[in-house]
Amino acid sequence: MDPQPPHVLIFPLPLQGPINSTLKLAELLCLSGGLHVTFLVTDYIRRRLLRHTNIQTHFSRYPGFDLASIPDGLPEDHPRLGDQLTEMFDALEAVTKPLFREMLVSGTRRPPVTCVIADGILGFTIDVAKEIGMPVICLRTISPCFLWIIFCLPKLIEAGEIPFKDKDLDAPIRSVPGMEDFLRQRDLPSFCRSSELTGPIFKRYLTESIQVPRADGVILNSFEDLEGPLLSHIHTQCPNLYTIGPLHAHLKSRLSIEKSLSSFRSTSFREEDRSCLSWLDQQPSKSVIYVSFGSLATMTWDQFTEFWHGLMNSGKQFLWVIRPDSIAGKDGESHIFTKLREDSTGRGYIVGWAPQEEVLSHESVAAFFTHSGWNSTLESICEGVPMICWPYFVDQQVNGRFVGEVWKLGLDMKDTCDRFIIEKMVRDLMEDRRDEFLRSADHMANLARQSVGEGGVSRRNLDRLIEDVRSMSL
Ligand code: UDX
Repeated sequence: MDPQPPHVLIFPLPLQGPINSTLKLAELLCLSGGLHVTFLVTDYIRRRLLRHTNIQTHFSRYPGFDLASIPDGLPEDHPRLGDQLTEMFDALEAVTKPLFREMLVSGTRRPPVTCVIADGILGFTIDVAKEIGMPVICLRTISPCFLWIIFCLPKLIEAGEIPFKDKDLDAPIRSVPGMEDFLRQRDLPSFCRSSELTGPIFKRYLTESIQVPRADGVILNSFEDLEGPLLSHIHTQCPNLYTIGPLHAHLKSRLSIEKSLSSFRSTSFREEDRSCLSWLDQQPSKSVIYVSFGSLATMTWDQFTEFWHGLMNSGKQFLWVIRPDSIAGKDGESHIFTKLREDSTGRGYIVGWAPQEEVLSHESVAAFFTHSGWNSTLESICEGVPMICWPYFVDQQVNGRFVGEVWKLGLDMKDTCDRFIIEKMVRDLMEDRRDEFLRSADHMANLARQSVGEGGVSRRNLDRLIEDVRSMSL
């Protein structure tokens, strides 16, 4: 009998950031490996991708690519945001898991699926794949430093370091090997701050620490020069690691070899306001701070006011992404943004959603005020743009600590939101300590480029992943 052609079913976490990086992985597998790829999303995400992106025309160049969808069990108008994300995870478990199982068991996809690649937080995909004897590889779209903390959660509980006994969030944390010298209570995921460890998010990550090592391999969206010795710690739990990032830069590098192929227009589910690129064109070189807190973070009106005054008082030009749903209680009040544009006296430009990768690579952009989501962090690193970090939740707290303390790529403002601190940090990053940050940012950007270039470690790891996926189908 002929061997089966390798067919990977990819199931990303149905949120904007993870969809962005996972789509890049899907394209890399089509482009570099010529694999059959089914990209399985929820119906909700599929509708958004079809409405806002050119996914169908773009992927029509890869005959082995297919976009499939499955219900997520939530009503269409559910926000799938903030506190309500727990409901999304519950619905995925209750409604999507049996349908996902049915899809694999029925073997209706052609050619038959030979391997599953799923986001590690969707632990049920590992259960199902193991149950039916299908190889499964986890993709982690969060940072490796966070993944390592997740693996150490049982140790942190055993050592009595969580729940926190000390009220001082600066108290050191000692039970995460490799981070003993710099980790503080405030750098742990925000769900560790609860006095009881019974919350649904905590339990989900505790489950992940047990589930992910059961997979046949783990893909990390990062690069070895950035992660250093941390990877050897993760290796103790997951011996088969594929560190193949930064995925967006990796894809860009592969596409530049295939000169005939253009890159994806956008993977955003929201309408991008591209007028900000023309505004940036009119600004002097390296004069603008780009401000964006990703796709999920929200802020109060008071916090928003502090940001506004801090940025205005800094005297710097700023481009600020304010999603219509990003200020709690002000959803849909578009007149606020019109008024702000007028009040910023030309120094600030406000959009509801930006083409972020293009913005960060723009000549006028000097700094990034970010929530430290993992995609945003990697996108900034690749463009050599120093950061001010205002982490919101999950992995963002530790990402901010690594940016400020370990990689020296910016300043970590976490847990404060004060106009005077904001003003000072913007000036530090763009004036007083500018050269120092630019030097380390340039250095890291070069290492990122090398990792995905010819002979680079991420490039070699991707080749190994493709080989392994092929051998799984034999
Ligand atoms: C979520 C989690 O909160 C984060 O901690 C985790 O690392 C990934 O998933 P999210 O808010 O989606 O984060 O942030 P991030 O990972 O940074 O992804 C946001 C994506 O949206 C980036 O790829 C960014 O380029 C894109 N984006 C953001 C835009 O294209 N335009 C914008 O205006 C803002």
